[in-house]
Amino acid sequence: MAGDNEDEDVQLEARLAEQDSFEPSEEFVEQANVSDPGIYEEFEENWPDCWEGAADLLDWDEEYTEVLDDEDAPFYEWFGDGELNAAYNCIDRHIEEGRGDEVAIDWVGEPTDETRTYTYDELYEEVNQTAAAFRELGVEEDDVVTMYLPMIPELPIAMLACARIGAPHSVVFAGFSADALATRMKSADSEFLITCDGYYRRGDALDHLEKANEGLDDVDHDTTTVVVDRLGEEGFGHDLGEDQLDYADLIADHEGAEVEPVTRNAEDMLFLMYTSGTTGEPKGVKHTTGGYLAYTAWTTHAVLDVKPEDTYWCSADIGWITGHSYIVYGPLALGTTSVMYEGTPDYPEKDRLWEIVEDYDVTQLYTAPTAIRAFMKWGEEYPNEHDLSSLRLLGTVGEPINPRAWKWYYKHIGDEECPVVDTWWQTENGGHMVTTLPGIGTMKPGSAGPPLPGISANVVDTNGEEVEAGRAGYLTIDRPWPGMLRTLYKNDDRFIDEYWREYSDPDSDEWVYFPEDGAKIDEDGYITVLGRVDDVLNVSGHRLGTMEIESAIVGVEGVAEAAVVGGDHEMKGEAVYAYVITEDGHEGDEDLRKGIVAGVEDAIGPIARPEQVVFTDELPKTRSGKIMRRLLEDIANEEELGDTSTLRNPDVVSEIQQRVQND
Ligand code: WTA
Repeated sequence: MAGDNEDEDVQLEARLAEQDSFEPSEEFVEQANVSDPGIYEEFEENWPDCWEGAADLLDWDEEYTEVLDDEDAPFYEWFGDGELNAAYNCIDRHIEEGRGDEVAIDWVGEPTDETRTYTYDELYEEVNQTAAAFRELGVEEDDVVTMYLPMIPELPIAMLACARIGAPHSVVFAGFSADALATRMKSADSEFLITCDGYYRRGDALDHLEKANEGLDDVDHDTTTVVVDRLGEEGFGHDLGEDQLDYADLIADHEGAEVEPVTRNAEDMLFLMYTSGTTGEPKGVKHTTGGYLAYTAWTTHAVLDVKPEDTYWCSADIGWITGHSYIVYGPLALGTTSVMYEGTPDYPEKDRLWEIVEDYDVTQLYTAPTAIRAFMKWGEEYPNEHDLSSLRLLGTVGEPINPRAWKWYYKHIGDEECPVVDTWWQTENGGHMVTTLPGIGTMKPGSAGPPLPGISANVVDTNGEEVEAGRAGYLTIDRPWPGMLRTLYKNDDRFIDEYWREYSDPDSDEWVYFPEDGAKIDEDGYITVLGRVDDVLNVSGHRLGTMEIESAIVGVEGVAEAAVVGGDHEMKGEAVYAYVITEDGHEGDEDLRKGIVAGVEDAIGPIARPEQVVFTDELPKTRSGKIMRRLLEDIANEEELGDTSTLRNPDVVSEIQQRVQND
């Protein structure tokens, strides 16, 4: 009877609300890639040789003789004298094992009638053709190739083509602005750009080439651009410029080409990925071929429990590190089938993801808390319309997940059968660092879990002393790991300053990595990550530097000064709040507000769009003239304000508060 069901539901909700720890099912544990709790101790005892197991997941052209070289710490080297090729590991070797007709990428377009399937054989053909075409263009080993592409198959194909010929790629998220593209191409001295005419977003065609061209106008050195025709007849009728080639024409000349994978040293750069830092300049994070690939393959195996016969789906964008590690390199290195989706979760309907899970019999789903909060808001009727019983494991990444959202995901998507892994890591880490292992650990909603085997993470106070259980402190990592960044591109000093200065003791050769996250640790060693402690915001799981946004705002005519902080946001986790002082003779009116929003979108992209712009005559400053950001955050969050008596201008606070409330 319906009434009974409702009662049952209410009881279930109540039970879930109270339950604060969960165990994986026996059925899951039995089939898990990693299920022996002894692994933690084993890694401890054998560290750093424990990482040989990760390296064993790869095929090496030349075996390494040393796992870790820490001679020149913190410029660590992993598997230093080993040699391999990443594209060979992601494609060829699976074909050699007779698995060429198995699906590598199941691509689902935004238009519901558009799908493409690439078997490993087909991926091999495409990647080889593209690699041959890149060579013809003049791409040589170690040249950085920039990719400014949305979620179309040509993106992973181009990445793997680069990996095959030993040219590092630098992928710029397609939602980033022309300015962001130009900054990254200039910083990397990149002479090659792979982009496309446009793409679909909720049914509309977006002009992408216009943005790319605008960016290219800002790049002084010579460039060659390859343009993928994504929209066909629905495109914008662009004429290609002198140094621009059509991708299809280019590769047509290389049908059937076979390009020998270039043997790379383990420490050779596989790719660059730019990420936001505390200063205006984005940081070019350098990842290598051996350590990175071994680490992503191992974590995909151990944490996401991926097996070759799975259909695994990570719904991130390849333009971010999650997509690099867990759509492209990790899953393909393991030879599984990976789903790649072009569109958004709510188009054409809010059940789109669940429709895809059902249609493809997806076994693992890896997504972000922001998405889960949206699913919750839309309601369980959308997943309930679909058979999700193929799912075996769920994952989240990118920002803290609140227990309510975790439990909703666990119940309504996983039917209480699938372990949920809450994976903490960063662009710089290459792969997962803190999470439960799904076949071993008790899960505690809201807490990512213990550090992975072989990873040594602590929560410390400002002196570097470990804090007591339950107390907030700073997350630190005091041992290297294979997937770690090796440096910031052409900026070793900044690498040391940003990550190692705070807690290391170089005199005694003790190096401690500081991720700039706050955290708590409980008596079982479970870590709850509280969020960034630097001036970086996390909006819908995307890292944005407040300085970058401020400098965009100050660049708008009529703005004298700006301060940007993060305010709590129900859906996005954090949202951008901008406090702005106008220049004399300019009004803080709707026109200027629009100008500021447009300025931020032009400089960074729509993801950085301010939620609120508050015009004020003054900003709260300390006597020494520093802006009190904490106070501005509290105002944004409408929280009780602490002591304001140390301010040079205490009166400004109530004035700003009023303006925030009136808005
Ligand atoms: C945050 C994304 C809490 C954190 C892979 C980190 C998280 C930043 C989690 C890195 C998580 C990532 N729980 N916070 N499970 N995962 N973060 O470089 O603040 O885009 O420093 O890498 O996201 O963001 P990035």
